[in-house]
Amino acid sequence: MKAITYTEFGGPEVLRLEEVDEPHAGPGQVRLKVVAAGVNPLDSKIRNGLRPQVTPPFPVTPGVEAAGVVDEVGEGVTGVAVGDEVLGWTVTGAYAEHALAVDFGPKPADLGWDLAAALPVAVETSVRVLDALGVGEGDTLLLHGAAGVTAAVGVQLAVTRGATVIGTASPGNHDYLRSLGAIPVAYGTGLADRVRAAAPRGIDAVYDAAGAGDLEMSIDLLGGTDRIVTIADHKATELGVTFSGPGAPFGSRLGEYARLAADGKLTVRIAQSFPLEDAAKAQELSASGHAGGKLLLRP
Ligand SMILES: NC(=O)c1ccc[n+]([C@@H]2O[C@H](COP(=O)([O-])OP(=O)(O)OC[C@H]3O[C@@H](n4cnc5c(N)ncnc54)[C@H](OP(=O)(O)O)[C@@H]3O)[C@@H](O)[C@H]2O)c1
Repeated sequence: MKAITYTEFGGPEVLRLEEVDEPHAGPGQVRLKVVAAGVNPLDSKIRNGLRPQVTPPFPVTPGVEAAGVVDEVGEGVTGVAVGDEVLGWTVTGAYAEHALAVDFGPKPADLGWDLAAALPVAVETSVRVLDALGVGEGDTLLLHGAAGVTAAVGVQLAVTRGATVIGTASPGNHDYLRSLGAIPVAYGTGLADRVRAAAPRGIDAVYDAAGAGDLEMSIDLLGGTDRIVTIADHKATELGVTFSGPGAPFGSRLGEYARLAADGKLTVRIAQSFPLEDAAKAQELSASGHAGGKLLLRP
């Protein structure tokens, strides 16, 4: 099968489109014929050698989420059959024609493939963070980097929980944030004053999805670290802030969010789909931090 691989850390140029052996579903696994693979900023961080804890052995095939059609079912797997359409996390890289998965959920037939592949990481992450923060009715949540794929799902889920969301983004994304139900504020110098103006009664919790150095300011605004979670700032520990990384298996809950997305009640902006051979271009754009939505590969 065709897959993207690399055998050394480096820039996008280390990515190669290769012919490799197909994986086969072992016990507890299914194999997908990948239709769409999500490109995440994490993929570039791993490729750059910045995430040794989660780097598989070389050769690495990047990618952690995909949507596809089950074409092999391993021993002991129940409730799914060859031909089923699913979305979830891949345990072999997702930038490939086939990938193995153990944590996945059903894809509604009326959910598009790109949107399906865009959901697993964004949904699991934002549900995990909002649960950790205990965001609910009446809370005012400050969300850094709110126009990003992961955070924008967080905006929608927080609004559904009855929270007021103040989202930081560049001005070009303010209308988008308004359309999701958030109050937009521009990031950069003077941010704390703009947040105070937008939330005169103060904020109750902070979800940092930008990792852009706003944790100290957030601690000042909140008056403590109890209700701050970052998914992107590794200075968290030294500041006494919780860094939240990938959590427990989520596939059994993914179907309910996929249904919401199919019904138009949960949206992800899709920026662009690329053929597999353009993985380097897709990662470059992803690493820019301003892709303007989800990037996908179509093997
Ligand atoms: N720990 C975890 O479990 C986990 C899970 C998923 C993602 N992540 C991390 O979370 C981050 C976001 O991921 P993603 O896939 O959502 O990325 P994304 O879709 O590329 O979004 C990045 C967003 O960051 C915004 N941004 C850039 N500079 C900013 C700044 N100085 N202040 C505020 N916002 C800024 C951009 O907004 P503008 O275009 O408006 O500038 C853009 O919308 C990445 O670092 C990723 O690795 C972590």
